[in-house]
Amino acid sequence: MDKGETLNKILIVDDIEDIRKQLKWGLGREYAVLLAADGTEALTLFRRHQPLVVTLDLGLPPDEEGTEEGFRCLHEMLQIAPATKIIVITGNDGRENALKAVQMGAYDHYTKPVDLDELKVIISRAFHLQTIEAENRRLQSTIIERAGENNGIIGQCQVMQQVFTTIRKVAQSEVSVMVSGESGTGKELVARAIHDMSLRKHAPFIAINCGAIPDTLLESELFGHEKGSFTGAHVRVLGKVEYAHKGTLFLDEIGEIPGVLQVKLLRFLQEKKIQRVGGREDIPVDVRILAATNIDITKAMEDGRFREDLYYRIGVVTIDLPPLRNRGDDVMLLANLFLRKFATDFNKKIRGYSPEAEQYIIAYSWPGNVRELENKVQRAVLMVTGQLIEADDLGFAALPSSPAIPEVQELGTLKDAREALEREMILSAIRTQGGNIAKAADILGVSRPTLYDLMKKHGI
Ligand SMILES: Nc1ncnc2c1ncn2[C@@H]1O[C@H](COP(=O)(O)OP(=O)(O)OP(=O)(O)O)[C@@H](O)[C@H]1O
Ligand SMILES: [Mg+2]
Repeated sequence: MDKGETLNKILIVDDIEDIRKQLKWGLGREYAVLLAADGTEALTLFRRHQPLVVTLDLGLPPDEEGTEEGFRCLHEMLQIAPATKIIVITGNDGRENALKAVQMGAYDHYTKPVDLDELKVIISRAFHLQTIEAENRRLQSTIIERAGENNGIIGQCQVMQQVFTTIRKVAQSEVSVMVSGESGTGKELVARAIHDMSLRKHAPFIAINCGAIPDTLLESELFGHEKGSFTGAHVRVLGKVEYAHKGTLFLDEIGEIPGVLQVKLLRFLQEKKIQRVGGREDIPVDVRILAATNIDITKAMEDGRFREDLYYRIGVVTIDLPPLRNRGDDVMLLANLFLRKFATDFNKKIRGYSPEAEQYIIAYSWPGNVRELENKVQRAVLMVTGQLIEADDLGFAALPSSPAIPEVQELGTLKDAREALEREMILSAIRTQGGNIAKAADILGVSRPTLYDLMKKHGI
């Protein structure tokens, strides 16, 4: 076998022949070295061989003294393959250019004259990073594949794994399932997954949002009505329950159903028959019920807003979806998957998040959960101009960075220490809540006006 085929490819771009020779000689044992003397040749080789690592001299002909051609090459290469690790080589006055290159997405920079051993270390680190990133991408692909088994629901954390187990256990049975969780946690996604894995999967999945329909219309929405049953009822209309015959009926925001209708719903669940509004006929209907709520149903029962007997019918099995902020590493996992998805959708080359953006994603409380994350990433991918998504692309307001807590000897009195800690905690609460003062106050256990007073006191 040709040795060159098995070695990792590196492309050396330099207009000086001696340097090319030196590097080829120095690197040839470990890597398959490709050489280019100018930009055009470099880009041709780059496209053909897709090397993982490139060393790029910025001073290329026809602009040997300047950097224009070098930057053009850098830009082109990153457009073609954003994951490439490009090490920019500059003259000894090239600090500014080096920084600019790194901002554009270069992996690292190196100042001439070339010290082979030093450069080798940088190159070997670049390849190492490539391996890690490739492994990461592979892992993500496996996760996406496995998400396919769970109908596209992504979750590696333990609670979500338990959710998947429950879904699989109940899907094939006929039991009713109540899914609870904050807004945007994926309740409807779970309901659809249960339906799609059930024996009813070829029959319809009918969703009705009980919270979005005025009380007066809800009964007719659910059970349908006969012609002439009320003013404006010109024709017979079937309700969602009948449409779901043989399939699944998803009662979204079930906590919002008014008391009178709760009774009617309960009767239907017991007798498996409905009467359309204004009708007398009992119509047998075969549906499986799934429900969702983002209010605390137990509390609603205590307050007398939700009937216990109905709950014991519908909540035979309950699935409680954790808020995104309690899902550990899932936040970053989802953020990366959404990034890849939207980058493909919008046909944009994006390498990932800046470290600062990542910190925000991890620290933020995500009150709108997965939906909010999905929306923020979508917007960021659309708006971003560079290759990295920054915190403000995600809509995180830049907040003052907090000074670290001073050393003990600098603190002085206990009062000073308390003040310093107070300030620190306020800043951190505001930051993790993405600038939402009400939420920050909540976390700190003070009222909003109090928090404003404290912010004023600390000059925040
Ligand atoms: N674990 C997950 N993996 C991938 N996508 C998810 C996940 N959870 C939610 N989503 C996505 O987030 C969005 C919101 O999900 P869904 O509509 O199921 O939430 P919900 O709990 O019903 O929200 P609401 O209470 O506001 O109705 C959807 O686009 C959904 O595809
Ligand atoms: Mg929903």
